[in-house]
Amino acid sequence: MNKWGKLSLGLLLAGGLLTGCGSNNTDNSAEGNSNSGAAAKKLVLGTSADFPPYEFHKMIDGKDTIVGFDIDIAKDIAADMGAELEIKDLPFDSLLNELSSGRVDIVISGLSPDPDRAKQVGLSDIYYSAEQAVVVREENKDYFPTMDDLKGTKIGIQTGSIQEDIAKEIEGAQLTSLSKMSEIVLQLQSNRVDASIMEGPVAKAFVKNVDGLAIAGAVPEVEDDGYVVGVKKGNDELLGQVNATLKRLKDEGKIDEYVAAASELAEGE
Ligand code: ARG
Repeated sequence: MNKWGKLSLGLLLAGGLLTGCGSNNTDNSAEGNSNSGAAAKKLVLGTSADFPPYEFHKMIDGKDTIVGFDIDIAKDIAADMGAELEIKDLPFDSLLNELSSGRVDIVISGLSPDPDRAKQVGLSDIYYSAEQAVVVREENKDYFPTMDDLKGTKIGIQTGSIQEDIAKEIEGAQLTSLSKMSEIVLQLQSNRVDASIMEGPVAKAFVKNVDGLAIAGAVPEVEDDGYVVGVKKGNDELLGQVNATLKRLKDEGKIDEYVAAASELAEGE
């Protein structure tokens, strides 16, 4: 528990820390090393900013801002291209269509490199990896030591996520798919679902900030346990630029730095 104690979810929702503050389309721009010319290049990022510490809303100097380690990476990609970054906060399950239709240039959203996705869009090299986790109400913490203990339970997951696929494999599980992670957390808190599956770092951030939740012992196994950047299928030039920046950031140890800083930011200090 941090020094202010745990915040209630209601407060979080009101404060817009973990959710989109009502509007689903927040633009905040980050400066790239833009060219001196009048028409600076623009890189439009699509992300679902409901996923601390990857991407989330936070009041910074009194302003609702989208932050997170994915956002830091996006800023570097834009800067290396000499472009200005524009951020579009969109529902997770719409992101790949937005890419294909050209309404966004890149997707960075804790995106796992699922083979079906690789058919639809171009996927970069892996920039980070994390384990999955099962989040439950604190009083049920000890009832889910293994994945088998999730059989027949009510599980909340994000629509279009790989967690939805994981949950579908669990015998007898009743699934509630919702668009935003904060809605799933609310369902857990109000006893409408008993468990949720999400990335370990996201589980930690929610458990830290939301009253009455805990991480269970069960650990879902996934094959694609890394995160990648999506670009439009066939845009190999952009994919090459993205991979070059990712390689630089990995070589410089920047990604771990960004993850640590974003995790701290997500924990509310
Ligand atoms: N890693 C999972 C997937 O690719 C979940 C990602 C959800 N991302 C988000 N920003 N809500 O399906």
